[in-house]
Amino acid sequence: MKTVLLVDDDQEFTTIAARIIEFIGCDVYTAGSIEEAKQWLADMRFDHLFLDFMLPDGSGLHLIDHIRNQKLSAHITLITGHPSVKAALANMCDDQINYLTKPIEADDVKRVLNRKTAAKPSQADPFERHFGCLIGHSPAMKKLVTMIERVAKTNANVMLMGESGAGKEVVAQAIHNASQCSGEQVAINCGAIAKDLIGSELFGHEKGAFTGAVGQKQGVFELAQDGTLFLDEVTEMPIEMQPNLLRALETKTVTRVGGAKPIEVNCRVVSATNRTLAEIAHKNVLREDIYFRLAVFPIEIPPLRARPEDIPLLSEYFVHQLNEEYKTHYQLSEQAHSVLAAHSWPGNIRELKHCIHRAFIMADPDTTTLTIDEIISSPFTTQQESQGQVQPAEPAATTASVAAPSAPVKVGETIEEVEKKLIYQTLNSVDGNKTLAAKMLGISTKTLYNRLNAYEQSTSEDTQ
Ligand SMILES: Nc1ncnc2c1ncn2[C@@H]1O[C@H](COP(=O)(O)OP(=O)(O)OP(=O)(O)O)[C@@H](O)[C@H]1O
Ligand SMILES: [Mg+2]
Repeated sequence: MKTVLLVDDDQEFTTIAARIIEFIGCDVYTAGSIEEAKQWLADMRFDHLFLDFMLPDGSGLHLIDHIRNQKLSAHITLITGHPSVKAALANMCDDQINYLTKPIEADDVKRVLNRKTAAKPSQADPFERHFGCLIGHSPAMKKLVTMIERVAKTNANVMLMGESGAGKEVVAQAIHNASQCSGEQVAINCGAIAKDLIGSELFGHEKGAFTGAVGQKQGVFELAQDGTLFLDEVTEMPIEMQPNLLRALETKTVTRVGGAKPIEVNCRVVSATNRTLAEIAHKNVLREDIYFRLAVFPIEIPPLRARPEDIPLLSEYFVHQLNEEYKTHYQLSEQAHSVLAAHSWPGNIRELKHCIHRAFIMADPDTTTLTIDEIISSPFTTQQESQGQVQPAEPAATTASVAAPSAPVKVGETIEEVEKKLIYQTLNSVDGNKTLAAKMLGISTKTLYNRLNAYEQSTSEDTQ
C-alpha cells in the first residue's frame, strides 16, 4: 500500500481528492500548508505527494526544494487550478515530478500513482537554467538553445540582434558558458565610451601614448585572449573607429595605441545591437565589411511577446530569486498570472523582471501573495508599439479597457478605418491613457481627442 501526502489548503478539494486516493487503495494524510507538510515529512516516509502550487505560506516549489534538499525520493504531483501556470509546471516535470490540473479525475490519480518512484533525487534548483543563465521553454527558446549549443562549439563570430531587454547580454554569456573556452568573457559597450578613448579601450595603449597614458594598458581584445569579446551596442561605435576594428577582425592582431608591434589575439567576438537589419543597412551605422565579419552567425533573439509561454515560468523564476535573496515565501496569485499573461511587454524580460520586483516591494508583509495591480510600461519602450514593432496584447481582463474594434487590418479597408482601429488598439494597450497613447501614435493629445470625438459622433449618427 502506498502512503500519500496531500498538501492543499482547499478543504473541499482535499476531502474529495483524499476519498479518490483512498478508494484507489492508498493510505492518505493531509496538510493545509507547507509548514504542516514539513512536519509530516519529518515524521513519516511518503511514496507520493500531491502538492498544490499555491499554498497559504508559500509556493509549492519551496516544498520541492525541501524534498530535494532532504534527498527524499517521494514522487511529486503538482496540482494547479490555473491554466496559465500549466506551462510553467510542464517544464518542471522530470522523473520525480509531474502535474495535474483541477478538477482531478480518479483515472489521472491512478495513472500518476502507478508511475515508478524516481530512483535518484534531482538537483535542488527547480528551474532549468540553460547554460547556467537562460530560462525559458517556449519553442522559440528551444530553438535559441540549439543555436547556442551548435555555435558555441565553433569559433565563429556571433551577432545578436534583439529589442532592448530581450536578453542579448544573457545569450552572450550563455554562448561563452557553453563554449568551455579557457579564457574570460570581456565586455565593452561601444556606445558608452568617449570617441578619443575607444581605440585605447579596444586595443590598449603604451605608456606615454597620449596625455594621461601614465602606464601601459591592455585592451579588451587582449584581455579576452582565448575567451569571448562581447561588443555590446556595436552599431553605436563611431564610424571613424570602424576601420581599426575591421583590421583587428581580419588580421586577428591588434596594435596598442602608441605601439608598433602587432599582438596576436585569439578570441571569439560576440556583438549585440538593438537595431534591426533594415536600420543597420540603411542608416549607415555599421560598415558592411564589418557586419559580414561580425555576423558570421547572426542570432535574432525573439521579443517576449513572441514567446508568451515563457511569461509564467520567467515570472516564477524572478519571484523565486527574490524569495531566495530576501528569505521570503511569496508566490504570484492567479490574478497576477492573468495580468502578466495579458501584457505585451514592450520592454521585454527586463520589464517583466522589474514588474515582479515592484510587486514584491509593494507586497503586503502580512501575506505571501503577490498581486499585480497595474503594469507601468516605460514610455520609451512603448514607442516601439507606435512604430509597428509590437502587436499590443489584449488588455488584462482585470483592468479597464476601452470598448473598441480590435480586428486585424484587412485589404480593402480605408485608411480612415485602419487609423480608427490603430487608435483604439493603442488606447486599449495603455488602458485608456490618452496622453501615453498620443505619444505612442506620434500625434498630439488634442488630435487624439478630436479623432475620438469624431468617432463618437459618427457612431451616434449611425445609431439614430
Ligand atoms: N532567458 C532569460 N532568462 C532569465 N533572465 C533573463 C533572460 N533574458 C533576459 N533576462 C534578464 O532580463 C534582463 C535584461 O536582459 P539583457 O540585459 O540580456 O537584455 P539586452 O537584450 O541586453 O537589453 P539591452 O539592449 O537594453 O542592453 C536582465 O536582468 C537579464 O538577466
Ligand atoms: Mg544589453
